[in-house]
Amino acid sequence: MQKIQLTSSYEEYNSLNELPAEYKSLMLEAHDAAKTAYAPYSVFHVGAAVLLANGKIIKGSNQENAAYPSGLCAERVAVFASSVQYPGVKIKAIAVTAMPGNMEVPVMASPCGACRQVMVEYEHLYHQDIKFIMYGSVNKIIVLDSIKALLPFSFNSDQLSGK
Ligand code: THU
Repeated sequence: MQKIQLTSSYEEYNSLNELPAEYKSLMLEAHDAAKTAYAPYSVFHVGAAVLLANGKIIKGSNQENAAYPSGLCAERVAVFASSVQYPGVKIKAIAVTAMPGNMEVPVMASPCGACRQVMVEYEHLYHQDIKFIMYGSVNKIIVLDSIKALLPFSFNSDQLSGK
């Protein structure tokens, strides 16, 4: 028997202004996207912004439904839209923010398991890590080097083909 340790690290910034400029503007786009959330049931507004290798930014927000499970999270709306609008273009980074109720203050927006699985698909597809930027708490911003760090042992296409 061998015990294997999984380790991952992340960067923590104390303000938006401390972030590298590219990530700060991506987070501002995510913040903007949160305003488009259709979230009458949870009243939890989430915004996501995807930065593509061609410099384009695609935004998404959570879209809820009276049949609750039919709604979709902001991350998946943004990632799927970017894949439709720019097929084959790598994803460089994804920023996410959430605002509960009418509060203007962003809170932690840690992605759900299904969104982690969807995002990791594109890392695997393009053999390129995707930077992930999210609020850890008020005024704390977390930057991860890859989605894999959020989802160790993720399922991927290699497993489907028995690799
Ligand atoms: N939600 C997201 O959009 N992204 C996440 O990472 C977590 C949750 C949405 C789904 C639902 O509309 C609302 O937040 C409450 O769960």
